[in-house]
Amino acid sequence: MKPHRILLIIFILLGELTATGQTDRGSKMETYINSLMSKMTLEEKIGQLNLPSVGFDITGPILSKDVEQKISKGLVGGLFNTYTPDAIRKLQDKAIKETRLKIPLLFGYDVIHGHKTIFPIPLGMASTWDLPLIEQAARAAAAEASADGLNWVFSPMVDIARDPRWGRVSEGAGEDTWLGSQVAKAMVRGYQNQDLSNPSSVMACVKHFALYGAAEAGRDYNIVDMSERKMQEYYLPPYKAAIDAGAGSVMSSFNEINGVPAAANKWLLTDLLRKKWGFTGMVATDYTAIMELMNHGLGDESKVAELAIKAGDDMDMVSEFYLNQLKKLVETKSLDVSYINQACKRVLEAKYKLGLFDDPYRGVSNERAAKEIMSADKLALSKEAALKSMVLLKNDHHILPLQSTSKIAFIGPMVKDQRDLIGNWSGAGDWRKAISLWDALQRQYPGNNFAYAKGASITDDTILLNKLNRFGAEILPDAQSPARLIEEAVRTAGKADLIVAFLGESCTMTGEASSRSEISIPESQKALLKALKTTGKPIILLLMNGRPLTLGWEDETVDAIIETWFGGTRSGEAIADVIFGKYNPSGKLTMTFPRTVGQIPIYYNAKNTGRPFNENEKFTSKYLDISNTPLYPFGYGLSYTTFDYSPISLNKTTINASDKLEATITITNNGKIDGEETAQLYVRDMVGTVTRPVKELKGFKKVYLKAGESKRLTFTLTAEDLKFYDIRMKYTNEPGAFKLFIGTNSNDVKEAEFNLAL
Ligand code: NOJ
Repeated sequence: MKPHRILLIIFILLGELTATGQTDRGSKMETYINSLMSKMTLEEKIGQLNLPSVGFDITGPILSKDVEQKISKGLVGGLFNTYTPDAIRKLQDKAIKETRLKIPLLFGYDVIHGHKTIFPIPLGMASTWDLPLIEQAARAAAAEASADGLNWVFSPMVDIARDPRWGRVSEGAGEDTWLGSQVAKAMVRGYQNQDLSNPSSVMACVKHFALYGAAEAGRDYNIVDMSERKMQEYYLPPYKAAIDAGAGSVMSSFNEINGVPAAANKWLLTDLLRKKWGFTGMVATDYTAIMELMNHGLGDESKVAELAIKAGDDMDMVSEFYLNQLKKLVETKSLDVSYINQACKRVLEAKYKLGLFDDPYRGVSNERAAKEIMSADKLALSKEAALKSMVLLKNDHHILPLQSTSKIAFIGPMVKDQRDLIGNWSGAGDWRKAISLWDALQRQYPGNNFAYAKGASITDDTILLNKLNRFGAEILPDAQSPARLIEEAVRTAGKADLIVAFLGESCTMTGEASSRSEISIPESQKALLKALKTTGKPIILLLMNGRPLTLGWEDETVDAIIETWFGGTRSGEAIADVIFGKYNPSGKLTMTFPRTVGQIPIYYNAKNTGRPFNENEKFTSKYLDISNTPLYPFGYGLSYTTFDYSPISLNKTTINASDKLEATITITNNGKIDGEETAQLYVRDMVGTVTRPVKELKGFKKVYLKAGESKRLTFTLTAEDLKFYDIRMKYTNEPGAFKLFIGTNSNDVKEAEFNLAL
């Protein structure tokens, strides 16, 4: 027999064995859970649906009382907001040793960009465009979190967002559907590591289902009103991608969708998620979301509990309405017990898949935690991620990288800041373990010529400070007056050759409940920058922030700008490496930076309209006072070198349904420094039964080029990549003309044309 036939047979056999293995495992689970459920009382089943919070929490009051007693009575299915081997063992002991049926607990936590080793915020991670790195970071977070006793993480957040006023854009991958879907899959793979029963895997929870990122006016928790076309095309695919990647759980979101809050939305949680997409895992609500259905105006405690369970929420996070209402609803015949059975079964299945019935503690120990947590490899990965996440927004006359021997004044409230480096939702991260930029500089360049002045507080706005400090954000205004701080900074800067100003947002100005109506650098810091400008010295602006900012004035004023995000535990060292050229920046924006707030929502994959933007014609789609163009487009990011793109060559100009279109381009590093480029592929469908965006990302390739080096890159497209929802809302291809673009960002591209013939 020919070798390739033998290989094929082995392949088929392996496939069958795996499939049989899975079915066996599936039927074993079925038998186990059916038998367990046959012994459970109604109260115990309802208990499995209860997900209270223990310990601290910043997003709301802790409502769950007497948690420990409830665990002993079998009235808790899972807990969140606690970790460490000892705490987890103690709580799991209660479930295992004190309850009648010894059903283990789930332990969840908001592990968003790392557990204890903190990576850049998700928006920064996405800016790396490095999917293997994103997967590895999630893997590292899973290893740490599971060693610390957790088995469930409330991540990835895959909400597409086009409005940077929304504070939670920092928690997602940005505005693009295709890229967001790739990131979602990578994170699920990283967390779950193909096998949930592996003690170093954790169950992912895709959130916030759904469309939370489209909250009206960028105001958190606000309503969403959206056409089905927009949902299906732009907002839903990343959730679907995460589910297809095997995510074990989903979190229903706070927002309403077209009049029906997600937590009570049967169309969303049952018809779409389960029936159409085939999701078989578990759904948990967001924090007190069932209780909030009363504020939404859907009824009293009993009614909203009924709506939520009937819609498809399996676990009730914190409200405890299931615990208090479901039994009565069954007794009064308002609820069929099958809803409770079904939800309970899904929770137990999640526990089974996690291996909790075999080992409720999943081998958790202080020794394992000590080995895993903040291990050298994880810290190194965190630095790599910080390096790759930074985006060079401007670099006039190649002022960067700097010479470490220069006389440099480091000015700004972020220079010595540790707290903000690790960002919002930094899990169990300890900011004291983060090294500030200043400390990194002292360690890496002893005997340097660097001077420091704080120059400004992050903000002097006392009303804002009160709001930010309400939950212990601890942003203290400086003891010196703003004028004195600026004076000192100008004096320090005056003695230097150049200024590195490190400005931005505090981490609490982003994230949940941190929407802003103005997204500029706070006034106190703007005043500082203005004063620094009067020195006439060159200014490098480093930014620490969690959303696109409006930077029009800064872009005109300073010589160079680097977006460093909230870069995590190793961010200070990474920034120092970028400033002095030890690393050539390669990050690219995944969210458009507007010129003004008035341009929002602004995103690259917009529609052409019937009167496309033309600055010189009155009756076109534009503003009188500002251009339509963003300050920095999606996909934008410079390097210390420059990359030249050749024209695109196509292997054919017409493809059919089964063809592969190959688009080839040669990229040359025509500068003097080695560097990495992310070449992006976009398409535009020129004619359709419905309007199509002017560009849509369909792929990218990262390429490392030495100075002077060229490489050919070939992108492959198939008809599948060109599908969309047609006039009948059918996901399909339409034949006709397409444009294909390859370039360094969504705006600066080479162009070619091809046809799809069906
Ligand atoms: C509320 C947030 O919306 C969600 O992202 C988070 O997972 C839960 N609180 C639990 O902390």
